[in-house]
Amino acid sequence: MKKNFGKQTFMYPMPVLIIATYDENGNPDAMNAAWGGIHDTNQIGICLDKSHKTTKNIAARKAFTVSMADAVHVKECDYFGIVSGNTEPDKIKKADFTVTKSEFVDAPVINELPMVLECELVQMSDDSDYIVGNIINISADESVLTDGKIDAAKLKPICYDPVAHNYNVLGEVVGKAFSDGKELK
Ligand SMILES: Cc1cc2nc3c(=O)[nH]c(=O)nc-3n(C[C@H](O)[C@H](O)[C@H](O)COP(=O)(O)O)c2cc1C
Repeated sequence: MKKNFGKQTFMYPMPVLIIATYDENGNPDAMNAAWGGIHDTNQIGICLDKSHKTTKNIAARKAFTVSMADAVHVKECDYFGIVSGNTEPDKIKKADFTVTKSEFVDAPVINELPMVLECELVQMSDDSDYIVGNIINISADESVLTDGKIDAAKLKPICYDPVAHNYNVLGEVVGKAFSDGKELK
């Protein structure tokens, strides 16, 4: 027997995406977003409230980066979600983070977060909070690679629990995709 919870924005897992942008003067900002995911091949879609500094920055620079929040930086990543660049222009410095300009897009890459999607804006409109970006490049620190590939066990990405309002670390491997189901064919 299932219990009904009505109309809610619940899903598991929800990501913890750290969106980094430059404003018109080149000052970097970062925010936390859970309402996002893959939109299409090589495209990301995110719901961004128009009031955010990030949204204004993306409209101005047409680019952004999306780092995966990780278990090592929970405090900093949560901070990016509870303080706005509209009132605190030095969010990144306050978190003791540093940035390097992306080689591929007009946006900052947060040095301390090991995996990042570098994105160009392709869709933003006045009547929707949903934006779409083309993923131009993905880069990851050597420290989270095994045999040259991104290793989730080393990356330790976190996800957002919209019911308990917790951050959970992505954990154990429980199966092999495109493979375990073959037993039932
Ligand atoms: C766990 C978490 C998830 C969030 N998800 C989103 C989201 O998906 N979209 C959004 O517009 N704001 C989201 N927020 C709120 C923004 O991160 C927050 O308002 C932030 O201060 C905006 O920063 P900015 O004004 O510097 O861009 C989230 C906050 C937290 C803590």
